Amino acid sequence: MAIGIYFATTTGKTEDIAERLHGLLSGANPPKDLSDLEDLTEFSSLDGIICGIPTWNTGADSERSGTVWDSMLEDIGALNLNGKKVAIFGLGDSSTYTENFCDAMEELHSYFKKAGATMVGYVDKSSYTFDESKSVVGEKFCGLAIDEDSESDMTDDRLSKWCNQLKDEIPGLS
Ligand SMILES: Cc1cc2nc3c(=O)[nH]c(=O)nc-3n(C[C@H](O)[C@H](O)[C@H](O)COP(=O)(O)O)c2cc1C
Repeated sequence: MAIGIYFATTTGKTEDIAERLHGLLSGANPPKDLSDLEDLTEFSSLDGIICGIPTWNTGADSERSGTVWDSMLEDIGALNLNGKKVAIFGLGDSSTYTENFCDAMEELHSYFKKAGATMVGYVDKSSYTFDESKSVVGEKFCGLAIDEDSESDMTDDRLSKWCNQLKDEIPGLS
């Protein structure tokens, strides 16, 4: 089983979380910065993909991240990722941007779904304090929301619970 971790970042927080996830998960390749990839062909050779995306483009419907992910969305949607497990984590600030907390996660989620991936790693929203997020579907976030700006004291616990969940949901992780 081959499992990749990919991230884009502007101030380094999403990269830091990608590294911490890698330290908690045996069986995943070291994290790669999306901006170092020439194209997405390597996604097709993986069995599982874990992606980190921050939200910078506040309130936007499309290109919500404001990072290199935005220019990759159409290419992701055009891939055939049938049978692959994909989990997304998002970085945001639930205090300052409480109307748009981690909005970019859902946009990336929708393109991976379009590519036929099996989406995993959904997280209950009840332990978070925020007003609105496009990334909430029903009672759950469509991935792991991380807030290093206002709730960094909760990050260790959130990462550890999510890693345990992914070990059940993505074969090859332990
Ligand atoms: C100008 C600006 C806009 C932001 N917009 C949002 C937003 O709409 N929603 C959100 O949850 N966080 C928002 N944030 C917070 C960032 O997403 C957060 O700091 C994140 O950890 C940055 O990740 P990075 O260091 O990997 O780029 C914004 C921050 C700044 C400075």
